[in-house]
Amino acid sequence: MAAFELIDLAPARDTFLEDVLSGLAATPKALPPKYFYDARGSALFERICGLPEYYPTRTELAMMRCHAVEMAAALGAGRTLIEFGSGDGVKTEILIGALRPARYLPVDISREALTASARRIAARHAPLPVTAICADYMSPFELPPAATLPRVVYFPGSTIGNLTPEDALLFLGRSREIAGNGGAMLVGVDLKKDPARLHAAYNDAQGVTAEFNLNLLARINRELGADFNLSAFRHVAFYDLLRGRIEMHLESCCTQTVTVAGRRFGFAAGERIHTENSCKYGLEEFAALASAAGFRPQAVWTDPEQLFAVHLLRA
Ligand code: AVJ
Repeated sequence: MAAFELIDLAPARDTFLEDVLSGLAATPKALPPKYFYDARGSALFERICGLPEYYPTRTELAMMRCHAVEMAAALGAGRTLIEFGSGDGVKTEILIGALRPARYLPVDISREALTASARRIAARHAPLPVTAICADYMSPFELPPAATLPRVVYFPGSTIGNLTPEDALLFLGRSREIAGNGGAMLVGVDLKKDPARLHAAYNDAQGVTAEFNLNLLARINRELGADFNLSAFRHVAFYDLLRGRIEMHLESCCTQTVTVAGRRFGFAAGERIHTENSCKYGLEEFAALASAAGFRPQAVWTDPEQLFAVHLLRA
């Protein structure tokens, strides 16, 4: 029998509308990247992961195939595995197979994606007890009693790159508390590299990343009754060498006014909405950030091309 339970800690109040209104009222305009992932956005992201230019997903997956046994040996069996973000669960299943955790606690804000992936893992790894936690792991949340010590926190996918280094430091500090005494964190981080390679990964030839970015406006139209003209905005993504990050924006092609929930927002021609940062970290740079957050970097794995890194941090 598969052992599965769901704990719902999701905020009762939906803040999409207020976040959009305050983001569009700000200077410069900005929208939080977490809103990319409605059903259509999640499907587009899955397509991005398979694009020839988008190397992170397949590189991290290959690294798990190569090194999960070594990672597991360094972590130790019989622990509580806590995962931030559910994704498609392929990397997680490789880790679970090697690690043999005592229980698995995935944490994600999207209830549907979370339960689908957690139920599948519970069925395929029975009798592994699975406690799915529906919560925003980017904000503080309470661990259920099932989260017994010692713990391993798994945060794959370089999602940490969405945070500025200052916010990543705070987030790693909270992760250190979640890992607890004797705990560890395994985190996937995209490496700094040739700017042309980075640029191509966020400006794919098929335009899927552009569609993913523009879907945010389509979602605002669908869910908040707005009137964004999608052909009057264009996808802009570039690598900022100084900050070591990809920035994604939606640029207004003309002077225009957009109405969201009865409020009007003016756009100058060329004005941008900042939709995402994707920060890249050198090996030493990330280890220093983790150390500043109270972790002791213990090991790090990279692929032969040095595109991606998986860091093992000791709490
Ligand atoms: C899911 C945040 C890791 O930053 O590469 C992919 C999201 N945005 N293409 C990334 C994304 C555009 C992705 N993360």
